[in-house]
Amino acid sequence: MRRILLKWQQLILSLGCLILIVSCQNSYSATNSSVLTVATDPTFIPFEIKNAEGNLEGFDIDLMNAIAKAVKLTVKFESLPFDGMISTLQAKKVDAAISGITITPERRQTVDFSRPYFKAGLAITVRADNQDIQDIKTLQGRKIAVQIGSTGADFAKTIPNAEIRTFNSGPDFFQDLLNGNVDAAISDAFATIYAINNGKLKGLKVVTNLLTEEYYGIATPKNSPHLDVINQGIAKILANGTYKQIYRQWFNTEPPNLPESAPHS
Ligand code: ARG
Repeated sequence: MRRILLKWQQLILSLGCLILIVSCQNSYSATNSSVLTVATDPTFIPFEIKNAEGNLEGFDIDLMNAIAKAVKLTVKFESLPFDGMISTLQAKKVDAAISGITITPERRQTVDFSRPYFKAGLAITVRADNQDIQDIKTLQGRKIAVQIGSTGADFAKTIPNAEIRTFNSGPDFFQDLLNGNVDAAISDAFATIYAINNGKLKGLKVVTNLLTEEYYGIATPKNSPHLDVINQGIAKILANGTYKQIYRQWFNTEPPNLPESAPHS
């Protein structure tokens, strides 16, 4: 009789353990989904673009996939206009955004950023035959094209008497510059130089040294449970050479050293 009782006790105990394990696993998978939804605006060559087959490609795309792989997550990209990205993050409609987004103190008020993953900066672009726009001074009173909601748009606002024209995407405002509707564009130097060198922006040139020093970060909603994991992924691919490999592949040069946090932001 005692032995039977003991058996029952054992059975109940192991059943209890089983229930505990199963329920723990369930709640783990409910809060730790292995798919990360990531917003991107694929109009920013060579960081994110749609290729002829309609698939996403670019430095940011390869980087995000490598980061996710390093921390055993998979990425589901969602295309969104750049201007709506911060508010979409605020509304927690996506887990993160990668889109050549500059880490700025203003944006930091509403979203969080990963550690910097790219060193960038703004530059002035003009038509190749333009001789009179050389710097910020000679931009005064000119028609300047910028992308809505970008750091280039913020910078243009500081130029006295400039007439600012805003566009939804990079390719549009470069076309306007080529057509002679505006005198210059202020945009991210790396992206512009890449497009000029790769023949996608014939007839344009970048005139100055960088106007600003900026760092791109992956943005998440405030207090996101994913931010730490993303940072771990960045640290891993910086340490194991994957970052270098992706950088070389897209820019044909060695990457600069990245700070652990963005200066001035
Ligand atoms: N770096 C600039 C900014 O953060 C422009 C980024 C544009 N990116 C894009 N995918 N259209 O404001």
